[in-house]
Amino acid sequence: MFRRFRRLRLNRSMRSMVQESRLSKSDLIYPLFAIGGSGVRNEIASMPGVFQLSIDELVKEAQEAHAEGIKGIMLFGIPAIKDSVGSDALSENGIVATAIRALKSAVPELLIFTDLCFCEYTDHGHCGIIDPVRGTVDNDATLEILAKQAIIHAQAGADCIAPSGMMDGTIAVLREALDGAGFPNLPLMSYSTKFASGYYGPFRDAAGSAPSFGDRRSYQMSPANAREAIGESLEDEAQGADFLMVKPALNYLDIVRLLRDQTNLPIAVYNVSGEYSMLKMAGKMELIDYDRVLSEMMIGFKRAGADLIITYHAREVCKLIDKGYLCDIF
Ligand code: PBG
Ligand code: ZN
Repeated sequence: MFRRFRRLRLNRSMRSMVQESRLSKSDLIYPLFAIGGSGVRNEIASMPGVFQLSIDELVKEAQEAHAEGIKGIMLFGIPAIKDSVGSDALSENGIVATAIRALKSAVPELLIFTDLCFCEYTDHGHCGIIDPVRGTVDNDATLEILAKQAIIHAQAGADCIAPSGMMDGTIAVLREALDGAGFPNLPLMSYSTKFASGYYGPFRDAAGSAPSFGDRRSYQMSPANAREAIGESLEDEAQGADFLMVKPALNYLDIVRLLRDQTNLPIAVYNVSGEYSMLKMAGKMELIDYDRVLSEMMIGFKRAGADLIITYHAREVCKLIDKGYLCDIF
């Protein structure tokens, strides 16, 4: 009788022994949104369970997450005033710099990854300075202010800088700027393969960063292109990136696997806002077993080859790990 496959599936302990992919709390990065004021917890309508947090509330959230086992957050800022060049992002008293200092003094061991981009800070919602003649983002002018923004984050105490704007040459320019400013040990996590995706919709509600004209297709990648996706990540590795990323996650696990086979750098996936919201809604409507599908999604990222998962579900995933899911439930 042929028993080759079922023999090792018959009880939970044996299944656990032969489980190939595992997830631990150290794999998680938790995105958080900082906003001005105090005592503010604005729930984002399209992202139930995710909040814009004033700095006092942000610190509380970060402390709780850290106590549950989360090692890192991805920090976004929502400034009080947006303008054509995103001035808030260039000021040491801007929302992100202020938030970094508060977090570092309250929870020094929690790693702060900072999203480095201009779409949250500009009144037009694009990821850099607009070239008035061509009506699109000016690559090299944006690189100059990205370098300034990175130094603001570094001086405030960021642990890793994560440029998400998809300008060509970003990593080389940032590495040189940070080295020159006395931060040669500060790592860069490149949003190296970032697709122009409809899944970012809820995030743009959270950050108020939807472009007021046009779209991001002249800087983010086409969802149809795999070779280009790998090429762009490998270019960022060559320019000195310390981590690579594939974003969004669910639709792009083939890219994660292809990249895994071509780089030795750690790879993050960004399980983005639209992916979060779809699962939340399906769970709320009891269309699926939420905890089970969430676990399956997370282990799928690991199986595809991701080392790190940036996810709004991070605190929920910690609770599932504590309950014994993800290590040996499958
Ligand atoms: C900023 C940025 C975006 C996200 C992360 N950094 C939005 C965008 O590119 O429009 C998306 C995150 C999410 O959807 O959860 N460039
Ligand atoms: Zn942007």
